[in-house]
Amino acid sequence: MPKDLIDLASLGAAGIERILERARELRQLPRAERERLCAGRELVHLFLEPSTRTRISFELAARRVGARVIDFDGDASSLRKGESLSDTIRTIEAMEVDGFVLRHGEDDMPRQVAEIAAGAVINAGAGTTAHPTQGLLDRLTLEEELGDLAGRRIAIVGDVRHSRVAASDVVALSLAGAQVHLVAPPELQRESVPDGVERGAELDPLLPELDAIVMLRIQRERIREEVSLDLDGFVERYQLHAERLGRMPDGAVVLHPGPMNRGVEISDAVADGPRSRIHDQVRHGVEVRAAVLEHCLDGPR
Ligand code: CP
Repeated sequence: MPKDLIDLASLGAAGIERILERARELRQLPRAERERLCAGRELVHLFLEPSTRTRISFELAARRVGARVIDFDGDASSLRKGESLSDTIRTIEAMEVDGFVLRHGEDDMPRQVAEIAAGAVINAGAGTTAHPTQGLLDRLTLEEELGDLAGRRIAIVGDVRHSRVAASDVVALSLAGAQVHLVAPPELQRESVPDGVERGAELDPLLPELDAIVMLRIQRERIREEVSLDLDGFVERYQLHAERLGRMPDGAVVLHPGPMNRGVEISDAVADGPRSRIHDQVRHGVEVRAAVLEHCLDGPR
């Protein structure tokens, strides 16, 4: 039976651990064996918001487990002639595909598509609420670096209010026992957070205590006009530059889900420096998504 991946809370602690363990196992699997895992499966990628990493990563992951991908081009599709997304899904399903990978601007769209589709629906980032595979790959990156995350202190800094990455990282890291701090100016802070997650506006006092820091860009495309933003003040208080990084413990590492706005939330020296794990995140993204596809597509056809 195909399975959906809509958010990490639904996957649960055990489900997250299984997928991360499988992502690690797949590294060791001979190529021919790996390519049989989802052989004959056909996926449609519906990226209805821009994406570089997630889109290419899912495509590579599909190839690595032997699935084929059809890339739906929203701008060249009948969505532009007024066809609804639900009719689009039903039309594509009639062609007997095995699943959809969906990137969308609306929070609830993956769940709505999952209600229509008989095949697997995998959320590749929706609105401001969930980017489950990013949460998984961030946790894998941190576990590879720090080992068991129980008791580790991890700050997620920047525009946490509009960040689906922050939402999924909170779930993934909290379930691993990490102490998560969301750090942002009030206008970019989340209105509510799960029990145990700390919120604040001050980054500097936290720096000496942190095992890892996840920097986030300001999501201008999601900021409503009434939110006034002091960009210079943001850079002054939150940009992770070499001097701030120098106040963190020696083993602390830096993550960023991308895309980066260099010179805003992160400096070149930090983004490209020895404590950056940004390219590891990208590499782990393919591994995690291969494991997610195996989980959701339920074997070869
Ligand atoms: N991290 C992330 O989702 O990047 P893309 O928007 O490039 O896929």
